Amino acid sequence: MTDLVVRKLLIDLNTPFPARWNGGDAFRSAFFNALSMSFPIGEQYFMDSVRAGLKTLPEADRARLAAEVQGFVGQEATHRRIHSLFNGHLENLGFSNELERRADLRLKQNAHRDVRIHVGATAATEHLTAIFADWMLSHPEALEGTEPRLKTLWLWHSAEESEHRSTAFDMYRAMKGNEEWRIKIFRYITMTFLSDVARQTVRNLWHDGSLFQWSTWRSGYRLLLSKNGMFRGNYRLWKDYMAPTFHPRQQDATLSEQWLKNNSDKFTAVGQPA
Ligand SMILES: [Fe+2]
Ligand SMILES: [Fe+2]
Repeated sequence: MTDLVVRKLLIDLNTPFPARWNGGDAFRSAFFNALSMSFPIGEQYFMDSVRAGLKTLPEADRARLAAEVQGFVGQEATHRRIHSLFNGHLENLGFSNELERRADLRLKQNAHRDVRIHVGATAATEHLTAIFADWMLSHPEALEGTEPRLKTLWLWHSAEESEHRSTAFDMYRAMKGNEEWRIKIFRYITMTFLSDVARQTVRNLWHDGSLFQWSTWRSGYRLLLSKNGMFRGNYRLWKDYMAPTFHPRQQDATLSEQWLKNNSDKFTAVGQPA
């Protein structure tokens, strides 16, 4: 069990930012914008799934997991709110969030499924976000040249994703979720997540006018597919999820702890004075 602190981020998100806010780099801005566009709907789904999962548990398990679920929901609700503000600026810049529309339809089509499937899908996505988050914390070049307030936004979210990496997984186990389905769902989530983000990135680049520029794809290769890139460099950690003995806490989360410790002036813990 983890003590999950809900933090209020002390950054200005009222001031608009330019379309290429990520160091002037078209690909990095478009890619992170696509991720941000996936958060409000995704994080609402994670909160709903884990809360629904908690209700199905016998009392002893419920008592064991209730505080962590509350922390998890508090953190995701805060991410959701902050990224909605971020996405509002993107909307003002003329970007259209097709990813959200597609995901909304898919969630409605799958709403009738067993709660364990939804918790399994949440645990699978949380594995992806946790490994990407750790990668962000160890690869500052991904946000090179970004203004400090936006850097803080992305790294704070990364740190908390890494911090609450095991909540949905533990819930799935507590619900006696099937192991074969855990892997099956993970493959499905990986495919849909990657294709959603890829399509939205292309759409964002089209709007930005940089879809057919060589420099755009050179940056995309460097960010995602180079040896230590966000996708290629994380293949082994991605695959770890398939092992029957896997648990999210087996993966190192010290970077998250360090970031939260070194940047405590950038947030207040909810319920505690500034
Ligand atoms: Fe989140
Ligand atoms: Fe999360």
